[in-house]
Amino acid sequence: MFEKMKTKLEMVVLGKKFLFTNIVAAFLMLQNNTFAVEGSGFDADTYINTGFLIFFIYVLVMTIIFLIGQNKKPEEEIEMVRKLDQLINDTKPIEEEHALLLDPNYDRIRALDINLPPCWKYLSYATTVSSVVYMGYYHISNGPSSAQEYEQEVRQAQLALAATSGQATVNVDNVKMLSDAASLAKGKDIYDKNCASCHGMKGEGLVGPNLTDDYWIHGGSIQQIFVVLVNGVLVKGMPSWRAQFSSQDLEAAGSYVKSLHGTNPPNAKEAQGDLLKKKL
Ligand code: HEC
Repeated sequence: MFEKMKTKLEMVVLGKKFLFTNIVAAFLMLQNNTFAVEGSGFDADTYINTGFLIFFIYVLVMTIIFLIGQNKKPEEEIEMVRKLDQLINDTKPIEEEHALLLDPNYDRIRALDINLPPCWKYLSYATTVSSVVYMGYYHISNGPSSAQEYEQEVRQAQLALAATSGQATVNVDNVKMLSDAASLAKGKDIYDKNCASCHGMKGEGLVGPNLTDDYWIHGGSIQQIFVVLVNGVLVKGMPSWRAQFSSQDLEAAGSYVKSLHGTNPPNAKEAQGDLLKKKL
């Protein structure tokens, strides 16, 4: 009777320990994942999905363990849990504990010389190795910094928007410089009514930069101008035009802007941005 109670109790204790270790491991994985997600800009969906994935894997593992243990006799079951516990925690059965007692005895408080749980150890080795890889890639070799990754992502999002702007017949991949009179007239009309207030009647620049010189902040190719028109540069006061105009209209407006290049209007604003020597 007493024997039976003892094993039952032991099993409960082992089971609890096992569960606890797993929850801690799952939690650590989740933490690690938060960190990775932060690096690439926080995305709640990814975070929640990964959380569920980890939880799902955890439930799956527990179910497999349950199924394996199902047809086993109680003794075998205990043995199995014990082996698993051994694998994860490397504990010694209570009967062998006396061999682990350390000698010093401080006011009858004695310490056990136990091994670190292997799951901790391997986690620690893994973080050490990954930190070396991380340092090597991001700090010594030319891995992108967080700022670079961010800029890259913003750029990609802008390109994606530019690719689906307006009626999407014109996008950043097929936008071209239109030079026929009708398109340029349409572009001039859009420009005079919407852009001249900031860029000057002749593109000489007012609040916005001079659009006739060789200097460009965001690049002077028709693709780069198109991306600026679609997305704007909101923080600098350049509006986005994708809600007002179709992509064809923006292609025409961009072409008109390009046609102003080299016209040397009077009262030109000082150069802003980088000099593009190449004939655009
Ligand atoms: C409210 C003022 C304002 C209006 C209206 C405006 N812009 Fe701008 N625009 C700016 C400012 C300010 C910048 C500079 C952005 C920066 O510093 O990054 C700019 C930048 C640009 C650039 C990029 C210049 C470069 O050097 O890379 C282009 C091209 C441009 N605008 C075209 C237009 C066109 C075409 C319109 C009309 C459809 C327009 N803008 C309307 C303020 C305006």
